[in-house]
Amino acid sequence: MFIDVHCHLTGGEYDGVGGTEAVLSRAREAGVKAFVVSGFDLPSSLAAAELAARHRDVYFCAGYQPEELKKYREGDLDEIAALAREEKCVAVGEIGLDRHFPDNPPVELQRELFVRQIALADDAGLPIVVHSRDGAAETLDILRANAAKLKRGGLMHCYSYSAEMTGAFAALGMYFSFGGTSTFKNAKKVHESARAVPADRILSETDSPYLTPVPCRGQFPNEPKNVGLVVRNLAELRKEKEEALEEQIFANAKRLFFRLKDL
Ligand code: NI
Repeated sequence: MFIDVHCHLTGGEYDGVGGTEAVLSRAREAGVKAFVVSGFDLPSSLAAAELAARHRDVYFCAGYQPEELKKYREGDLDEIAALAREEKCVAVGEIGLDRHFPDNPPVELQRELFVRQIALADDAGLPIVVHSRDGAAETLDILRANAAKLKRGGLMHCYSYSAEMTGAFAALGMYFSFGGTSTFKNAKKVHESARAVPADRILSETDSPYLTPVPCRGQFPNEPKNVGLVVRNLAELRKEKEEALEEQIFANAKRLFFRLKDL
């Protein structure tokens, strides 16, 4: 039994592999019991909500990812807030900071929308899902400054920062999900973090269509059916029994994403 707590299934990336419905079917056959489809801007959040409405086992997040903020218009957050009230919306996300590319949206805008969406999640009584790249200390600072608004905690999706920092994020109520990157042989830092995360805070994801795990690395698109490869590798890294880790991940997912049902 697997759960993919972070995937993108509403784009055209799956047209060549039978489309989203076929992707969902293959994942179910592989034992995936629930999908959390993440929005990254307003249209993708609306599409994720629509997909969730059509499938019992699909849930969604609504939010504006930092790299997508060039498209942001005032008023978009009102629509995100409306989506956050839907019963299958499990979190506000993905939101955060991304300093990876020099032409990413301005840092001030990223910070402003990160903080405003944390407040939006708090108003909706939901956790957040954080996308953070090349900005560990700054992300931690923002979360600390807004700790009072993190009553429902959140998820550091595709966690790529140090093992040392996991304690500080965990103290703020954050969980940690690992995807394909954690299966890459040279990703020593991610391996150390995957070992360091407390048992009650670890989750599994694919970030499909990206970051296909070993041994399928390099294939595009990635699919949620591959989340089992991630979990098996996490169990090896942590020297845990795979079945025990699967159960632990399920319990963790239901605790964080309290709107998940029927698992
Ligand atoms: Ni994502």
